[in-house]
Amino acid sequence: MKFLVCKDYAAMSEWAAQVVKEIVNNKPTAVLGLATGSTPVGMYNRLVEMNKAGEIDFSKVTTFNLDEYYPIDPANDQSYRYFMYQNLHGHINILPENVHVPCGNCEDPDAEGKKYDRMIEEAGGLDFQFLGSGVNGHIGFNEPDAELVAGTHKTALTENTIEVNSRFFEKIEDVPRFAITMGMAPILKAKKIIILINGENKVPILDALASGKITTQIPATMLQMHNDVTVVTDEATAAKMHESF
Ligand code: GLP
Repeated sequence: MKFLVCKDYAAMSEWAAQVVKEIVNNKPTAVLGLATGSTPVGMYNRLVEMNKAGEIDFSKVTTFNLDEYYPIDPANDQSYRYFMYQNLHGHINILPENVHVPCGNCEDPDAEGKKYDRMIEEAGGLDFQFLGSGVNGHIGFNEPDAELVAGTHKTALTENTIEVNSRFFEKIEDVPRFAITMGMAPILKAKKIIILINGENKVPILDALASGKITTQIPATMLQMHNDVTVVTDEATAAKMHESF
């Protein structure tokens, strides 16, 4: 696991966008694993700019998003499908058929999970996975627990996640209580992973990663077992850490 401290959030976003640009320029048919939340927005903005400037071409790229609320209509403006359209997919030259987000209104979430994993395999696996981290260390919606699940699956959100994510909703009761998330296996099988973690409330997660320990109670620590992970933060956050990289 490598650690990178950038000046600020803009520099983190720029660095991540350059990584994506390099991957896609080297392999125009790249398969990218993408995330939602506030963390990737800066990177997505840069990718849109780069695409408009002709610096990156998404015409042969395929994307798989980590997760989606359940149940939710994909057209709902709180869905992750909608979020991705607003922040990235609607502004770049990607083919709609190459965009994948778990189906939030499917009838059978177990079958949907299996189908999603199969589609990732059939696409050749993920060349790259972008991750953010929950304040509790979740990745995708793999929440802290005594056991984690390998395949893509339906999961209950923790009270902590529901509370944290309620900032995007009018009231906390509107936050879905379930999600379909990529499991740990497709994430850990990605060839390259970067995880952006900044903000004072996520210092404990960075400390956990710097400690080198692994626990299912902080799912992000499972990334220790991957051989190409870069943890990216900013100077202000790094300054608040108790552990050192
Ligand atoms: C969300 C998503 C995660 C994301 C995380 C952090 O709920 N399921 O994929 O990384 O929470 O969100 P943020 O970047 O807004 O802190």
